[in-house]
Amino acid sequence: MTSKNGVTSKNLTWVHRLDEVDLDELSRLYRLAPLGNKPPEALATVYGNSRYACFVYAGDVLVGAGRALADGVDCAYIADVAVHPEHQGRGLGSDIIRKLVELAAGHKKIILYAAPGTEAFYRGLGFLHMNTAMGIWSDPRRAVDIGLLSPED
Ligand SMILES: CC(C)(COP(=O)(O)OP(=O)(O)OC[C@H]1O[C@@H](n2cnc3c(N)ncnc32)[C@H](O)[C@@H]1OP(=O)(O)O)[C@@H](O)C(=O)NCCC(=O)NCCS
Repeated sequence: MTSKNGVTSKNLTWVHRLDEVDLDELSRLYRLAPLGNKPPEALATVYGNSRYACFVYAGDVLVGAGRALADGVDCAYIADVAVHPEHQGRGLGSDIIRKLVELAAGHKKIILYAAPGTEAFYRGLGFLHMNTAMGIWSDPRRAVDIGLLSPED
């Protein structure tokens, strides 16, 4: 079975077009995964501005998603990868990352930051630690609290 713009394998259907996705269902997936509260309007903006997107369906149910911002030459940034809890641990998260890396092939660097505790997952997919990565967060205190940023030293 293959959808209009998707490719099917292992009974999963892959879709890469945002207009084929119910944004309320996408928002629910992030709450369930869990990967935080991402309102549908915000998802429309961030996915709309992302060069690459993956949405994975088991039947009619959205069970995985992820996206990558990219400039076409230099840098691609993978974000918002999540798998429905009932489908975690079966290789789907790895498949989504591999697909985004494949879509972003040719960029000089493909970067991401891991949710604390998921570093081993990304290391297994070929990502290495960036020694000098730094960032400005809108809520740095919370980012320090959850282990994303190191406080000033
Ligand atoms: C992290 C996540 C995307 C992984 O997807 P998944 O489909 O469960 O992962 P896979 O089945 O492809 O696992 C691949 C490997 O990574 C490991 N792994 C999976 N989640 C991991 C985690 N949180 N920490 C460490 N290792 C993890 C698996 O054990 C597996 O290892 P193995 O190949 O040696 O068996 C998924 O668990 C998820 O959505 N979590 C909640 C949201 C989140 O944290 N997203 C990441 C944001 S950076």
